[in-house]
Order: sequence, then structure tokens, then C-alpha cells
Amino acid sequence: MFQDKVLTHDWLAAAYSDDLSYKPLQVMILDERVVLFRTKSGVHAFKDLCIHRGAALSGGKVAGECIVCPYHGWEYNTDGMCVKIPQQPPERVIPPKARTVKYACVEKYGIIWVKLAGDPEEDELPQYEESGDPEFKTVCADPFVLHAAAPRVVENFLDVSHLAFVHDGSLGDSNYPLIPNYRVHWQGNRYVSDEIPVYADADGTGNYGTLYYTFEILRPTTARLKKVNRENGQIFSMLFTVVPNHERKSTVLALVSRNYDLDQSDEYYKDFQNEIILQDASVVENQRPEELPLDLQAELHLPADRVSIAYRQWLGKLGVTFGSDGTAARSKAI
Ligand code: FES
Ligand SMILES: [Fe+2]
Repeated sequence: MFQDKVLTHDWLAAAYSDDLSYKPLQVMILDERVVLFRTKSGVHAFKDLCIHRGAALSGGKVAGECIVCPYHGWEYNTDGMCVKIPQQPPERVIPPKARTVKYACVEKYGIIWVKLAGDPEEDELPQYEESGDPEFKTVCADPFVLHAAAPRVVENFLDVSHLAFVHDGSLGDSNYPLIPNYRVHWQGNRYVSDEIPVYADADGTGNYGTLYYTFEILRPTTARLKKVNRENGQIFSMLFTVVPNHERKSTVLALVSRNYDLDQSDEYYKDFQNEIILQDASVVENQRPEELPLDLQAELHLPADRVSIAYRQWLGKLGVTFGSDGTAARSKAI
């Protein structure tokens, strides 16, 4: 069973909408096999397990509003109830035990989100206004698998100091590593940083300038950033969310939005994002310990790490254990 009470009650990204056609799709979430499938009435998520002989439903097919097991053809409706057992006459009653586990599942921003436990009405999905805003063009980055714990991956996204080194020449410049003082604020349901200036090649054309980054920690596996070029009003935003497949394996899904360069191909921005995350992977997959230490005494911190500190403290306070060392972060003012 799921080990993490916090993440199971959270909306977790599972896959891009475009990657789920009418063929069922298996996704590993928190070490569990989940099957996603699409019918005319929408998207659905079940435990990927047939009650008959334990086959994976994801190997089957969709028939009308049902998913059909590949092994002996049992059919489950969108509530997870078995409604057809081909080996018995249709008039025979199907035992109520013949069912699979259904999870809450919604589609938003081109991402399929799953909630494995708890009330689906209780928590809102992360906010990302740029999606659907006509002033922005939004691209789904290619799914990227990292052999690293989800909290390590999210923290890397929130780490402003690495831009000058890991992404020297693109997102940052190693000649300008200094991070000015900034604060992080709790705003209702999330952490938001002050605007942090980063000197870099502003648009990938050798046109150097200062970009102002704002980081937001939305949930344990979801964050966003906005960077603004005050010279020309260009805004780049990203919703970054991690599918926590296994303790040390994660899949990054990211929505990349811009209010400029609107005629550029999606491929250009996907390629750029792939290049960036490959650079991140070389570091993040080699961090030790693999699980994010939530005890602030475990590693050293600088004022420039305030977003990461807030993230670690929040995970500790919430009680996240999956992909972290699971100890409560010690309270330390940020
Ligand atoms: S294992 Fe699914 S129908 Fe037999
Ligand atoms: Fe990075």
C-alpha cells in the first residue's frame, strides 16, 4: 500500500492529456501501478489490477464506457464495478466484490491529475493562469524521467543559485553568481519568493540582461516560476510538476509559457527544455543522500537557499516521507 499519507491525498500529475488516447496507459505513482483510460465521458484512473487473476488492466482495451481486462475479458465500468464476466451466462449475478479500486482523476492544463485517497473536492488543483491565457503560448515539455527522488527534483527547480553553473551560458552566467538578498513569503496556500534578479542571456540570442525570477512552491510535487524582463515586458512562466513514480524515480512534466516569440515552433521550446533538464539530471541523479534531507542540520544553507529551505520545512511540517528522509524539519526562521 501507499506509504505517504500526504502525497496520496494530494493531486498528483500522472501524464499529459495528449499521451492518453483510447488505449489504456499504465503509470507508476508512489510505487503503485495505476491505469489511466479515456472514454467518451472523460478520463478515469484505477488501480491497475484485475480482481480475477491479478492481470494489469492497462494491457487491455477500452470498450464503450468500460475497460476490458486482457486476460479473460472481464469488463469494468467507469466506477470500477465489474459488469461483464464472459465465462458465465449474462443473467448470472456478478458479485459486488468483483471490482477494482477507482481513484479521483481530472484533466486540467493538458495534464491528467490523480488523487489516490481522500476527498477529491477537498483540495484544489495547482493554479496556472497562463494556460488558456490568449497572451501566452504554452507548450508541454517532453516527459523527462529522472532517476532521483521527487523532492530532490522539485528542489532543483526551485534553486536559483545553480542557474549560473549548471546552465552557464543559457539560463545563467558563471561570471555573475551573486544572489542578492531576498525573502520567501507564505501566501494563503503556497510559498512565494520575492523577485530575484538573475543576469543571463535573456532570450538565447546573446542579448544579455537581468531577468527577475519569482518562485512559487504550490504543493510538495508542484511548483512554478515566472521570469520577467523589465526592459521589454517579456514574461516566461513554467508550471513544473513531478510524477513520483518510485522513491528514486520521477517523471517531470512541465508547461512552458511565454508572451513573446509566439511564432516560434513548439519543438524549439521542447528542445531547449530537454537540454536544460539534461543538465539538471547530471547533478540531481548524483546527489546523496538520494532522499531529500528535511532536517536543516543535515546540509549547509545560505541565504540564497531560502526557497529550498522553505520547501524542506514545508515538507517536514506536512509530514511528507516519500523521497525525503521523513524527519520533521527543525524550525528555523527564514
Ligand atoms: S485476470 Fe482479468 S479477467 Fe482474468
Ligand atoms: Fe536547472
